[in-house]
Amino acid sequence: MVSLGISVEDRDGVRHITLDRPDKKNALTVAMYAALADAIVSAEADDVGALLLQARGSAFTAGNDLRDFLDQPPHGDDAPVFRFLHGIVRTNVPLIAAVRGPAVGIGTTMLLHCDLVYAAPTALFKVPFVDLGLVPEAASSVLLPRRIGRARAGAALYLGEPIGAQQAFADGLVTKIVPDDELDATATAAARAIAAKPRASVRETKRLVNHDREALIEAMAREGKAFSERLASDEARAVMSAFFDRART
Ligand code: COA
Repeated sequence: MVSLGISVEDRDGVRHITLDRPDKKNALTVAMYAALADAIVSAEADDVGALLLQARGSAFTAGNDLRDFLDQPPHGDDAPVFRFLHGIVRTNVPLIAAVRGPAVGIGTTMLLHCDLVYAAPTALFKVPFVDLGLVPEAASSVLLPRRIGRARAGAALYLGEPIGAQQAFADGLVTKIVPDDELDATATAAARAIAAKPRASVRETKRLVNHDREALIEAMAREGKAFSERLASDEARAVMSAFFDRART
């Protein structure tokens, strides 16, 4: 099923969720978040064994659609972006990602909630929230320093320094680096292998690994409040408008 930039297909116990807006580097719109949220939230009841997040084209995702940020910023807990974020925190179905090219903003922060992340050598992880006049989201203010250490997270968050595939592997953001032409097959094989294992045991394992879910939801609420305020600021709106103006200059 393809719905406005997201395609969803169940095969061999694996739900393949593909970011499918390559002409815009898979920038995520409100409609795409809604489709992502639906596919993730329904997976457990649909007896899906593993969720595989993939992307079409040269980028994993350019992050949130900046036009949407300007024109229809998210409001309230039931905004599609929050349904998606709460979905990736709460699901007991393992999440596997296959990343090539840039993974910007939420493209990187969503990976902090994945159980396995396969990356091509081109993968590039960026969290330039400060550069955009924004603040971190998806509980990344907690998870990124916890995962890669405060000093390295500082370079990514305050300086906007990208993290390449090798560094991401060394930092524990990535499970394995695989050649580009093997990326999708490797991630699919891992997802299928998990889907073939004792289902209840897999889910219980995930529940135990994710024992701090409520703390992450609280972090998202904290971040969400600051994010909304920043999004409405002149500072952020000027940077985002400039992104679209560059094409006209
Ligand atoms: N929102 C909306 N549109 C976006 C976008 C975004 N986040 N990122 C890219 N696009 C669009 C561009 O406007 C362009 O559209 P056009 O062809 O109609 O002009 C198209 O996607 C291709 O983008 P382009 O910048 O030309 O591709 P690139 O390969 O040179 O660079 C990126 C790719 C991802 C590095 C770059 O697009 C980028 O930095 N995007 C913004 C990332 C960002 O700040 N995200 C928000 C994080 S909170």
